[in-house]
Amino acid sequence: MERPAWAPRSIDISVPSVSRIYDFYLGGSHNFEVDREAARKAMEFMPGLPKIMQANRAFMRRAVRFAAAEGIDQFLDIGSGIPTFGNVHEVAAGSRPGSRVVYVDHDPVAVAHSQAVLAGNDDADVVAADLLKPQEILSSPQVERLIDLNRPVALLLVAILHFVEDADDPYGAVAELSDALAPGSLLVLTHASYEGIPLPAERAGGAVDVYKDIRNPLIMRSRDEIARFFEGYDMVEPGLVPMPRWRPEGAPEEEDPYAFSGFAGVGRTA
Ligand SMILES: C[S@@+](CC[C@H](N)C(=O)[O-])C[C@H]1O[C@@H](n2cnc3c(N)ncnc32)[C@H](O)[C@@H]1O
Repeated sequence: MERPAWAPRSIDISVPSVSRIYDFYLGGSHNFEVDREAARKAMEFMPGLPKIMQANRAFMRRAVRFAAAEGIDQFLDIGSGIPTFGNVHEVAAGSRPGSRVVYVDHDPVAVAHSQAVLAGNDDADVVAADLLKPQEILSSPQVERLIDLNRPVALLLVAILHFVEDADDPYGAVAELSDALAPGSLLVLTHASYEGIPLPAERAGGAVDVYKDIRNPLIMRSRDEIARFFEGYDMVEPGLVPMPRWRPEGAPEEEDPYAFSGFAGVGRTA
């Protein structure tokens, strides 16, 4: 298989990656046949998967606009993925020019492509780091240069925590990051769940198994388990809800039933 210029030498392009599968669902071009094969296999069980991803992106953009309207001009987006349409730095700058954004991902393709997209942008940067090592993120030169932790920040953990198993203590990582945030900061989060999927759990489980097969298990959590990530935060209205229900903008649209899978919420530090 030929290695395109955007694929770093360090990656094994015969192994599917979560960020490239997601890129495929969103109609992007930074994916390989192995990724598309895994994505199609998951879609045999859950044909509406791309609708879930689109609802996730739409929520994220609304939440960034909400944060900007609240006066927040600094964004730390962990598990940012491969840049696609309507990225956080574009949405933030559109609402609040001069906003600063630091992206974080542990996937080399996501990092390399983010670097390419952000070249020459003094207000945004990317860190190659793991969510499970919060201190590496917080003390990175990129965060030190762009984010003032004495002022409110929007911490985005959008569609990432469901890739972290309980044994790796995702709650501890979120708590450690939250402790570093100034009062008035926001936690913006989405998470996959069997709750809300318009399919019997066994069928949805077939799609979940695809991620297990590629050694990147998808951890479906209940609404209560997801709510625990917001410990210490005050929930912003309307709370933890299916993605299309979080502060929809304009007239309600006819949404695909799949868009109501999983949960989205925003919390504010006291
Ligand atoms: C489904 S994508 C979500 C992208 C973006 N946040 C969005 O919602 O559109 C999940 C991303 O999280 C990244 N990721 C998963 N586990 C991670 C970890 N432990 N540390 C950093 N990034 C991680 C993956 O590489 C992938 O790019």
